[in-house]
This record gives sequence, C-alpha cells and structure tokens, in this order.
Amino acid sequence: MKRRQFIRFGAILGALSLVDKPKASQAIGQSFSGKTDGPLVLSTWNHGLAANEGAWQVLSKGGTALDAVEKGVMVTEADLTNRSVGVGGRPDRDGHVTLDACIMSGDSRCGSVAFLEGLAHPINVARAVMERTQHVMLVGAGAKKFALEQGFETAKMPIPEVKKDYEKWRKENKDLFKKPEINHENHDTIGMIAMDANGQLAGACTTSGWAYKMHGRVGDSPIIGAGLFVDEEVGAATATGLGEAIVRVAGSHTVVELMRQGIAPEAACKEACMRIIRKNKDLTGLQCGFIAIDKNGNYGGYSIFAGFNYALRNNAGEALIDAKFDRNW
Ligand code: GLY
Repeated sequence: MKRRQFIRFGAILGALSLVDKPKASQAIGQSFSGKTDGPLVLSTWNHGLAANEGAWQVLSKGGTALDAVEKGVMVTEADLTNRSVGVGGRPDRDGHVTLDACIMSGDSRCGSVAFLEGLAHPINVARAVMERTQHVMLVGAGAKKFALEQGFETAKMPIPEVKKDYEKWRKENKDLFKKPEINHENHDTIGMIAMDANGQLAGACTTSGWAYKMHGRVGDSPIIGAGLFVDEEVGAATATGLGEAIVRVAGSHTVVELMRQGIAPEAACKEACMRIIRKNKDLTGLQCGFIAIDKNGNYGGYSIFAGFNYALRNNAGEALIDAKFDRNW
C-alpha cells in the first residue's frame, strides 16, 4: 500500500515520538491505532491540516475541545478555494449552495443545521442551536431566520467561479443520479474531532454536500450519529464521503459503539466501512471514510476506497496520514 505521510515539526521537536507513525510494512486490514498524550485534533482530508492549525490555536492555550473544533472548521468554511465546504462550496442542481453542519460535545450536548443558505459559518449557527435553543436541529428557512436573528455573518453564494462551473455543468450534465467523485482530488466534508488538555472531547462537521444534489437533499454531515458522534465515556468519530451510505448505517455512532465494546479506533472505523460494503451491491463511486479517537488518546481512520487521508495535530507537530482502505478504485 502506498503510504504518504509527513511530519512537520512543531515547536517541540523532541516530542516527535508522540506522533505514532503507522509502519509502512503493515498489511492492509491489519489494525493500527496511534496514541497521543495531551491535546489532540484529527480531521478529514488534507484541508484538515489548516483546520487543525486553527483548532490548535485554542487547544495549545488550554482552551476547550468544543471551542477548538468550532474554530478549526471555520478555517475550512472560509476557504474560498474549497469546493465542498462553506462559502466556496458547489450548489445543488438548482443553483443554491445549501450548507449542513453539526457540533457535539462529549457530554451529549449537540446542535445542527441543514439546508441552510447564505450563512458564512454554519458551524456557528449549529453551536448556537445547541447553546441558545431547546432544540438539536434547525433546517432551511427556519435555520436561516434563527441565524439572522442571532446576528451571524452572511455570505453571497455561489461565488462567481463556482457559478461559472455550475452553468457549464447545467449545459453538459443532466444526470441527477450520477455519483460524485469523492477522493483526494475532490475533497468532501471537514469532520473534526478533538480532545483538550482536560481530556474533554468534542467534534464538528460541516459541508456543502454532494455537488449538484437535488434541491432539499441533506447528507450525513448534520445528522448526529451519522456524520458525527461524541460520547465522553468512549470517544468521538466523524465521517466523510457519500452521505446517503453513511446515514444508512448511522456511521459515526456505529464507530463509537464499537469502541465502547473495546475495539480500537481504526478497527472500529474499518467495521463501519465493511458494514457499508456489505449493504451496497454497487460500490461504484461509493467512497466513505471515518476517523475516530477514544478517550485515552488512541486514534485511527479507515476508508472503503484508497485516497482518503486525515490530518493530525498534537504537541509533537502535525501529520497527514493516509487511511487504510479495503479496496482500490
Ligand atoms: N458527506 C457529505 C455529504 O454527503 O453531504
């Protein structure tokens, strides 16, 4: 298996051993979970490197995991070059950029927004749903009304270059059911999970979803238990990939429940992927990946197909880790 991994040294060069490197010789399917001491943040894809840096600014100063994951994914939401998250995201087939996000802390508090238009940071709105309402989830016009009442930043979407792409797509492609390319060239969703210096866990997940989806479609990312699940008794997990498949197996909840049974993070992520594989006869384009940490600082990730990577940041520095996978494309 091709494994690209790099470590960029942070301030604490001597602590490099805190980042456990998967061994190149490990066979596909063999369980590996790294372990880290102290604060830790993990997020999906290589856009997770910049997001982790945002989270690390909170964690390294003794801040909470909840603040860290919110700040971290805001970096990705604000990245105008990112086509699957936030302001730079691609629209649905009717030309609307509709955003999904959720946030959860280890004590089971959670908030979520879906089918939200025109807000720069859906993760802020999700957190406000959690902290300022009696509800867990707001969607569509109701979510937008709440966000505007709360004074959250708005943004015009799609941005011009994305609109241009969309207009080209409209002319060339009318196939509603074409599965998307979800791989390392076309990053999908930022899912982030973190543990702070006090051992508290939290996670956040945010996306513009499947490019050119049906108007009204919502994926896994804002669904607590599908795109994200956190339980301080056990650990945290988040997902990326084809949301419909992840929802069908309550993917992130599945990973956490497997860890509750004593299964290591990578093996738990693998079993969630295998469950998706078993339940789908046609795996064409069906990429899904999970990352997980347990309450002891063990971490891991796994994907159905090759190409999924995840970013790690701890006291030792940062790493981009190619997840193990079940099959090549
Ligand atoms: N995983 C993101 C989505 O399917 O919307």
